Amino acid sequence: MSTSCTSPDRNQIRHWLTTTNPHDLDELWRQADAVRRQHVGDAVHLRGLVEVSNRCTRNCLYCGIRLANSKVPRYLMTTEEILDCTRIAVEAGFGTLVLQAGEDESVAASWIAEVISAIKRDTDLAITLSLGERDEADYRLWREAGADRYLLRFETGDDKLFDTIHPSLPGRRSDRLALLGLLRETGYEVGSGILVGIPGQSFDSLVADIERFGSLDLDMIGVGPYIPHPDTPLAQHSERFLLADGEQVPNTVEMGYRVLALARLICPRANIPSTTALATLDGPAGRELGLQRGANIVMPNLTPQKYRRMYEIYPAKAASTEAAEQSIAGALSQIRALGRTIGSGRGDSPNLLKDC
Ligand code: 5AD
Repeated sequence: MSTSCTSPDRNQIRHWLTTTNPHDLDELWRQADAVRRQHVGDAVHLRGLVEVSNRCTRNCLYCGIRLANSKVPRYLMTTEEILDCTRIAVEAGFGTLVLQAGEDESVAASWIAEVISAIKRDTDLAITLSLGERDEADYRLWREAGADRYLLRFETGDDKLFDTIHPSLPGRRSDRLALLGLLRETGYEVGSGILVGIPGQSFDSLVADIERFGSLDLDMIGVGPYIPHPDTPLAQHSERFLLADGEQVPNTVEMGYRVLALARLICPRANIPSTTALATLDGPAGRELGLQRGANIVMPNLTPQKYRRMYEIYPAKAASTEAAEQSIAGALSQIRALGRTIGSGRGDSPNLLKDC
């Protein structure tokens, strides 16, 4: 079945975002689950997440590891520590390692390339990078070193809101949509996504963002509710940003599920994780509900425990003190309890193989 056969139109998207009728919502969950099963099957692919560094030169108004938050001690993992995480991922049978970090040029592109090469030399893991906005040359270097995929959320497609909550660096306007095109041209499998319920986010803009998932033809989509971090301007002064009731998208976990389910309907073959933000707001049930409402990916956190607390982009990030082994065991038992299987192999996006 082609994408267009299942895609809801603008009015349907808006209806599903705003309806208060529980039967309509049940229908959304049902359709998202059916489309997920039909296009990507029952296998849940596991990605090992390694939060390589919390150094960041940006001052995003929503993010706990923003430069101006001097309460956070900064760290950069060593190559050896990253390779230890790689071994855990291989032993657990994962197909992918995700290397994520704040945005900081002092985390040298050449060093990242060496780490990618070392992982590729020793393992068959696919490598996903989530290292923010960098130079074209860096993206090329990492691709040549063997990186397979890149995640860069556009957060919101409302330009004015994006510029406000994500101040550009001097002389260098952030244009994440252009970067997503560049990443695609460079040969990466491309993922993006948004924050749900950012103060200032309207339903109009959210509808447009969800439609954009389709026009960008994303291979991976990550969405999660915005969770206020007390040491950020957006949490401290939310009243300055919030829109009128009825216009403002609420940052509830339920709205997160609605957007996740709609993402599945718009991009039936994308890899879509049940994100940590859902599990943070809804406990272990959050991950399960995500998997039952469109998601087919889980990303257990393999970051060494001593660094976890320092990577709090939002407070009480789910299982932020849990050891990697616990995080893996928890994910496996949850997936099996849902009657789903554990994906084998790299779990490349079926979107890239589409024939319709
Ligand atoms: N609440 C929820 N998600 C957040 N992110 C950053 N800050 C927050 C927050 N306060 C998300 C952004 C980013 C991803 C790595 O984490 O969408 O792209």
